[in-house]
Parts: sequence; C-alpha cells; structure tokens
Amino acid sequence: MVNLSTSYMGLQLKNPLVVGSSGLTNSISELKEIAAKGAGAVVLKSIFEEQIRHETERLLKEEGGKMEAMQKGFGDIMNSRAYDYAEALNYIESFAKEHTLSDYLKFVSEAKKSIDIPLIASINCATPYDWTYFARRIESAGADALELNVYLLPADIDRTGAQNERMVLEIAESVIKQVNIPVALKVSYYFSGLANTMVELSNTGIKGLVLFNRPYQPDINIDTMELTSTHILSNPVEYALTLRWIAILSGKVGCDLIASTGIHDYESMIKQLMAGAQAVQMASVFYKNGFDQISHVLADLQKWMEKKNFENISDFRGKLSQVNVKNPAAYERVQFMKLYSKIV
Ligand SMILES: Cc1cc2nc3c(=O)[nH]c(=O)nc-3n(C[C@H](O)[C@H](O)[C@H](O)COP(=O)(O)O)c2cc1C
Repeated sequence: MVNLSTSYMGLQLKNPLVVGSSGLTNSISELKEIAAKGAGAVVLKSIFEEQIRHETERLLKEEGGKMEAMQKGFGDIMNSRAYDYAEALNYIESFAKEHTLSDYLKFVSEAKKSIDIPLIASINCATPYDWTYFARRIESAGADALELNVYLLPADIDRTGAQNERMVLEIAESVIKQVNIPVALKVSYYFSGLANTMVELSNTGIKGLVLFNRPYQPDINIDTMELTSTHILSNPVEYALTLRWIAILSGKVGCDLIASTGIHDYESMIKQLMAGAQAVQMASVFYKNGFDQISHVLADLQKWMEKKNFENISDFRGKLSQVNVKNPAAYERVQFMKLYSKIV
C-alpha cells in the first residue's frame, strides 16, 4: 500500500501537494474544494505590507480632517492637547493595522474551521519594519504556519547585494521572534551568492524555504508602445530552474525545501521530490485546469510509486540531490560540456 504522506516544517501532510498562494486561495468555498480534492496543505492569498500602509494612511488622513474641524471650534483646548494628539496618532495607526488585519484574521480563523488540512497564511513583504506584529495575530487566528513572500527585486543601483541580503535576513529574524508557528520564506533567485544566502537564511530559525517566488514578467506591447506584464501564469518548462536549486541545496540547508514554479503535473512533482524537496507548491495549473488537477496529480503519483515499488515518499526523495557533490558548479559544467560537445 502506497503512503503519500510527508512532513513540511514540522507539519504532517497527507501528501506533498501544497496549493500555493494565489487568487484561488482567497475564499472559503475554494479552500473547501482544495481540501476535498485531496491537497496536502494550502497557502492563503497574501496580505500585503502596502495594503496595511495604505489603510493606515487613509485613516490618519480622515482623523486629521476631523482634528482640523475640531480645532476650528476648540482651538485653544486642542492646541493645549498636542501631546494627546500624538498619542492618538499612535493609537489610530495601530487601530488601522488591526482593522485591516481583522478581515484577514477572520478569514484565517474561518478557513481553519472549514478545512482539515494544514493552513499556511501568507504575508507579502519587502522590509522588516513595523508589520511583524501581524504575524503574532495571524498565529492567534489559527494559522498552522506562516509564509513570507519576500518581494525583493535588486534593482536599486545604490544598494549592494549584501544590503539586500541583510534585509531578507532581518525580515526572517524579526518575524521568528514574534511567533511560535513555523515560518517559511518564499524568495526569488536574485541573489548573487544564491547558495550561500539560502544557507544563511535557513540558519535564522525559519523552517522552510520556498524556491522560488515567480517575479512579475515584464513585456512591451509594440502596437501601443507601452510596458505591460505578460505570462501571469507559469509555463511547465519553468520547473527546471527550481529543480536545479532544490538539487543543489537539498541536504545543505538547515530547513525544509519546498519547490514552487512551473510544477503542473505529477512528473515535475516527482522530479522535485527526487531532487530533495519535502513537498511542492502548485498554483498556475489550477487556473488552467481547475482543482480536479489535484486528484489527477495525486492519482498519477500513486500509480508511479506502485510501478516503481515505492511504499513511501522517503524511498525516493532526495535520490538525485547533489548533497554528495562537493562543487555542483563544476559538476554542472562537465555535464554542459558533455552535452554541447555532442551537439556541435
Ligand atoms: C494570479 C496569481 C496570484 C498570486 N498571488 C500570490 C500571492 O498573493 N502571494 C504569493 O506568495 N504568491 C502569489 N502567487 C504566486 C504563486 O503562489 C506561485 O509562486 C507562482 O505562480 C509560481 O508557481 P506556479 O508555477 O505553480 O504558478 C500568485 C500567482 C498567480 C498566478
């Protein structure tokens, strides 16, 4: 009898298929469908740092308007109470944050009651400043884990790679201080010393690294001559980039690895597991084929394991990781030379 169970960040998953954060994980009805189709876990749609800031600023402006009106009537009294006003600003700021979050928190706690698979909440962030408070609230709302989608495009010509890396490390460190639930970092591949940075991040106390975030894909419309975005959904060939880094980093980092991007079917899922991933995340394929794809992928995984006489995921996980390859770059160079010398 085949057993598809796996663990990820200390969570027990009945199988390695995790539905990644997207617009499809933003409603209770969809979460119920995801669970019913058999997914191992689900990551909720992210709440954004900017969303919170926007809400904070809006409330501050509204409250500022009221203050002006009140000052017209009670000028002296208001002026004498400047200190109180500063306190009020602090209060409004935290209220605004609480308020914005409260919708998300309600969603998290309702989701927790509605499904019986691990629930991973998500925050999309770019700085470690002034929002880590939310992580604690998300934990209290019932999330089993928290994923931090760190959106950092190193496009600022005045910032060094080291500064960018420091920022991500600080995000990890400051959130971990806030919560007891496991925290994962979802990162991009835009680090100059990618392997080294991933090892450093994995040693901050995070429990999972999601490799990789899929950045916004820019394009140009040559008719309107405007910048646009394109390829919102991934293409199945994109799994190879993730595969390389899962294989290189598996066994070398101090946390679990979960593969993300371009995984659309059971074959690419198996490849990521063989490279050493604890589980995989899938998102685009559900936009294309619906949640039925969950049961199809799991049925195909089971058939493949039966054919190969594997009882457990651990029988083949990591079999093709590069943990024993001391210098993966040199190894890859030889493979590359072999391949190209055959072709030309
Ligand atoms: C429409 C859409 C919305 C997404 N929203 C989020 C989000 O809120 N937070 C997040 O971390 N990732 C988000 N993602 C990224 C996915 O979780 C995933 O990392 C990416 O699509 C690559 O995986 P895939 O190839 O399986 O789609 C979104 C993706 C899509 C297509």
